[in-house]
Amino acid sequence: MEHNRILIVDDEKLISWSLSAMLSKAGYAVETAANGSEAINKFSLFKPDMALLDIRLPDADGLDLLRQFKLRDKELSVIMITANADVDSAVMALKLGAEDYIGKPFNMEALRHVIDKAFEKRQLREKLDFFREELRKKTEHDKLVGNSASMVNLFKMIKVCADTDAKTVLILGESGTGKELVARAIHNHSARTEAPFAEVNCAAIPETLLESELFGHEKGAYTDASKRRKGIFELAEGGTVFLDEIGDMPFSMQAKVLKVIETKRFRRLGAEEDIQADVRIIAATHQDLPAMVKERRFRGDLFYRLNVMNIPLPPLRERTDDIPSLVQYFIERLNEEYGLRVEGVSPETMAYLTGYGWPGNVREMRNAIERSMMLEDSRILTPAFLSAEIKQQHEKAQNKSPHADSDASATGPARHSFARGHITIPAGGISLEELERQLILMGLEISGGNQTKAAKYLKMSRDTLRYRMKKFGLSEPFGKDEWCGMKTGEDAQRLFPHLAS
Ligand SMILES: Nc1ncnc2c1ncn2[C@@H]1O[C@H](COP(=O)(O)OP(=O)(O)OP(=O)(O)O)[C@@H](O)[C@H]1O
Ligand SMILES: [Mg+2]
Repeated sequence: MEHNRILIVDDEKLISWSLSAMLSKAGYAVETAANGSEAINKFSLFKPDMALLDIRLPDADGLDLLRQFKLRDKELSVIMITANADVDSAVMALKLGAEDYIGKPFNMEALRHVIDKAFEKRQLREKLDFFREELRKKTEHDKLVGNSASMVNLFKMIKVCADTDAKTVLILGESGTGKELVARAIHNHSARTEAPFAEVNCAAIPETLLESELFGHEKGAYTDASKRRKGIFELAEGGTVFLDEIGDMPFSMQAKVLKVIETKRFRRLGAEEDIQADVRIIAATHQDLPAMVKERRFRGDLFYRLNVMNIPLPPLRERTDDIPSLVQYFIERLNEEYGLRVEGVSPETMAYLTGYGWPGNVREMRNAIERSMMLEDSRILTPAFLSAEIKQQHEKAQNKSPHADSDASATGPARHSFARGHITIPAGGISLEELERQLILMGLEISGGNQTKAAKYLKMSRDTLRYRMKKFGLSEPFGKDEWCGMKTGEDAQRLFPHLAS
């Protein structure tokens, strides 16, 4: 275990000695100093986390020492020890940043309590910023939307991974397919959900800083290390560490991560003792790791360790069924974010969106919707503000389709889209069958998967709806909110009985 360090500064030998004995026994690392100059020396060498400072010293004023210590390390916790007559200076000490003070003669138990409390507070402070950031992310990205067969499969895998805590998980998928979202979903639905989810992007951090980012460092471990810092393995204690872009992790670092997985221990840079790691590791990459292993750019042993549970995320172009629900979801979110009142996209726009290859996957689609929402005046988004790539791809596809060709031979291709009321026929024509499929999907989407309601929206009988769903190969859809509102394993079983193992 890593010991918290306490420096005791008091000229009364007996007090120093008995405090030192009591605190060492309680598991703290302790040093003592009997005067100001010794205190300054020990402070530099010992790098304490806490100082117990007598206000009256033979060669110095405790308050001066407090100022000097705080200048060098503003995170240092200081408890003043003071004779009762010095209560005014003790109050002054609090103003200068001391944590607390205790009067002489003191009760050992009371002092011990003050010290433990100060360490607890310090730990809270250290985690506070971290949690704040976490909270922001949690509320920002909590929904995993989609009702295609592959998404249903994905939800199932998330549930299995969340319940199988001991195993590492490897998430593979192109950029923008939702790897981070999946990693967070596993964490949020696991028993570790109350503990932190800490991520590090291995591609974004220079090799020299990555080790300290992961494992932390001691004060003075390298030139710029002016104070001790915890790494994410320590900050995520009890929770999940998400190693994003693991394919970009330097080879030397891969060996160290492998060791943590194998031994469940790690060491801060510059430290002499190991720290126990109680974390679950989830890794993700868009790279082809098996190929990298073959080319000796990624360690085979680490790949083998990470790949115990493997979640492949299909690119968006392979699950176009999800596009309508994603579009609707992003419109709702962005309406909230920007105070807009967009209602949806025209069928023509939907045809553009479902026909595009989305190399940047869901992220690229979100950006396309955002851009259209910013630029478009009407409440139904037209293709006007879609990017040139999306338009070009759509036009190419239209020109290639046999339907378009036969039109061309008869009256020539329609150059412009044609609109009447709410209905628009895009340039190049429209597939009635695809339109019907999309309308059925939308009906199901609006009704949250409830077929009776969807049939009402679509003004058809439930049997007709079922017949058409079958015709288009549309399986029983998932309501996105059902998944998103899921908090416990029990909820999961209730909402998704067919996922139960
Ligand atoms: N199924 C989904 N439902 C809702 N939003 C999604 C879904 N998949 C991805 N997103 C959104 O798309 C964006 C990209 O997702 P995320 O960051 O998880 O992708 P990634 O695979 O980690 O990408 P990269 O490899 O570029 O880091 C985010 O804004 C995320 O909220
Ligand atoms: Mg990512």
